Amino acid sequence: MIKHVDDLFVLSTISSTLVLSVRTLKKVTTEYFGKRLSDDIDLTPILHTYGATRGRSTILEKEGPNISLNDIPSDFSTPLLGDYNNPSIIIDGDKGAVYDFRFLSFEIIEHRKKNGYPTPHGKAQELVILLQDEAMEAELELHYVCYEEAGVIGRYAILRNKGKEEMRIKKIASLQLVLDDRGYELVSFNGNWAGEWNKDVAPIHKLRYSFGSFTGSSTDYNQPFFILKKKECSYLNGECYGFNLIYSGNHLEEIENNSYGEVRIITGISTLFFEKSLKEGEEFETPEAVMAFSKDGLNGLAHNFHRFVNNNIVPENFALKPRPILYNNWEGTYFKFDEGKIMSLAKKAKELGVELFVLDDGWFGHRDSDNSSLGDYSVYKKKLPHGLNGLSKRIHKLGLQFGLWFEPEAISEDSELFKAHPEYAIKDRFHKPLEGRNQLVLDLTNPEVRAYVINSLKTVIGEAELDYIKWDYNRCISNIDTRDTSFFHNYILGLYEILEEIKSAFPNLLMENCASGGARNDLGMFSYFCQGWVSDDTDSFQRSSIQANMGLAYPPSVMDNHVSGKTSHQLLRKTSLDTKFDVACIGVLGYELNLNDLDPIDEKAIKAQIEFYKEHRETLQYGTWYLFESYEDNRQVIEMLGKDEAVASYVLGISRPNPKQEVLPLTGFEDEATYDYSVRPTKLDPKRFGSLINMVTPIHIKEEGKLVNIVSRRFGLDAEKFQGEVSGSILNSGLFRLHLLWGGTGFGEEVRVLGDFGARTYLFKKK
Ligand code: GLA
Repeated sequence: MIKHVDDLFVLSTISSTLVLSVRTLKKVTTEYFGKRLSDDIDLTPILHTYGATRGRSTILEKEGPNISLNDIPSDFSTPLLGDYNNPSIIIDGDKGAVYDFRFLSFEIIEHRKKNGYPTPHGKAQELVILLQDEAMEAELELHYVCYEEAGVIGRYAILRNKGKEEMRIKKIASLQLVLDDRGYELVSFNGNWAGEWNKDVAPIHKLRYSFGSFTGSSTDYNQPFFILKKKECSYLNGECYGFNLIYSGNHLEEIENNSYGEVRIITGISTLFFEKSLKEGEEFETPEAVMAFSKDGLNGLAHNFHRFVNNNIVPENFALKPRPILYNNWEGTYFKFDEGKIMSLAKKAKELGVELFVLDDGWFGHRDSDNSSLGDYSVYKKKLPHGLNGLSKRIHKLGLQFGLWFEPEAISEDSELFKAHPEYAIKDRFHKPLEGRNQLVLDLTNPEVRAYVINSLKTVIGEAELDYIKWDYNRCISNIDTRDTSFFHNYILGLYEILEEIKSAFPNLLMENCASGGARNDLGMFSYFCQGWVSDDTDSFQRSSIQANMGLAYPPSVMDNHVSGKTSHQLLRKTSLDTKFDVACIGVLGYELNLNDLDPIDEKAIKAQIEFYKEHRETLQYGTWYLFESYEDNRQVIEMLGKDEAVASYVLGISRPNPKQEVLPLTGFEDEATYDYSVRPTKLDPKRFGSLINMVTPIHIKEEGKLVNIVSRRFGLDAEKFQGEVSGSILNSGLFRLHLLWGGTGFGEEVRVLGDFGARTYLFKKK
């Protein structure tokens, strides 16, 4: 809800209130952003006061109180007028660089469609504040979007040149927010290939911090999502603010803590290789930034963003809809496949309960490795002699949906496309463009290239009757021609144009986002893709922390996680398929291993996993997500709280002797209700016990011998038993006790044998 009271604007969401004012120097200031305030109260006590003038200030106006722009919590800032903090807007032009935008008018409208960017859907009110610098003949609009039900507030700006002289934008952020310094810590997320979403927590000293990306995409190096939290804020309690951008390109985040005790937060398009010229009558619109507040810790903050992504961001046709369980052949075959192999995998996948079959890289051109054919999306006849349509028909006939991998933004030098159109690749005028993963990037700023991409995709999607596509993007951009002064930005606008076109041509096509795993999972991409491949790292332990940290910003419903072979291709660590499932099931489940190599015991395990997942799919994809402990604590617990049930995923780090008593932290149960609890049944590999197995067998068994291999491949040993009834109030106490972990002595029904990096899934069902 947005209310206008005197010269204040009050934006209320279910979890926060933002109070803006235009009473000071006709500038827009944030008077309050935090916990939701009661409606219709006197807001005077929260307003900033300006009785005294700070020493050595540069005063904007001598009339009335002597106020400097340095002193007010401005929602935007331009330099050279007394505000010596980090500016959010820098314009240089024929008339100079001094811009003094003052309040002119406002309106409250229904959420408008954004120009060139994805627009969140659903109902939302939007406050538009128009500011003007008459002398410079320029207008600035600040837009505030109130996603009331989600608990999220959007912010973006539009700058307009009303004069004849040219204006050149050097910097224009989407959001500037000034908060009182209350000892915040900055939580940011860095990463790299197969190692996305590492959490970094740092105190905010009296310095200016800046991070972002200029690879051409939002990247895994530094996420545009970040948090400011009070020191004592934990997963479940305490105050924090979160910020993100609905944008997939280069971005810049800045936090400045000045000596007056104000923290200025700025986020938007990166200033590196960005300059936009505005001629008379032209305007520039920034992407939208979003922010949320939580008084209930990091989980509370995540819930705001989860609601926002589920209800307002992912394509409407897929919002809150169940996602299919998929099989992807990548780690199972890589480039080595033919129709026979694919069909036998598809049949096996169907038998195990999979719903969607995805043929990954290698089906087009003459692609036998990553050296060729990107750009040529005609079928590789040697591998698939009956064409895509033939394959698609056979897969559909099995009762599976069918999908394909593409890398639409890339071009191989060894391709028909490159031979015909070398100019389609991004390059500067004087160097041979650098390769990344043996490929170049298509110049999406060129309309002819965009038309080519749209056309190729439409042809294949139509001909192969696809239900799904995986859209990959495997390298960073280099060698741009800087005569286009905002090339990187225009590239992203070009990408959005293509995506818009594909989305409207195939509204029921399930599109999965991928960028070598998670190098471009952002709110912009999720506006077109209802799920994303989280990481190329499918090792369950690594993956568990990637998923957990990503969960602070994005809901499990957009996270595609696969159970891959026991030996991780990324780390060579061995974990059981059940452990992999216990991690992968928090989100959208998939399988990515050679199903024809499975032992009988593994087939049984996968069937049981899929049955379990189908039964609890709604909870696992759309339940309320809680993270309790993570990585650093040597164990991680995630709870998905659904309707009358909850599923908890427990992941252990390193196991140690003499285990301590362990409890399962949980929340959200009905105190008065009773729940059936159980551990998802799993088998233990007898080989795990080495020669210790002889302690319980009547005959001698050799540690690596034939006999143990037979038992290992066919039967396994039953893991611990753990089931019963428990009151909701005990579960809510956070002290629900688990069996002791194996600690070097004793084995039985009441001992949890997890080993290093083991995991379990617990189920709670209301009676
Ligand atoms: C990227 C993706 C993988 C797979 C390969 C195919 O690395 O992240 O999942 O699709 O490309 O080349």
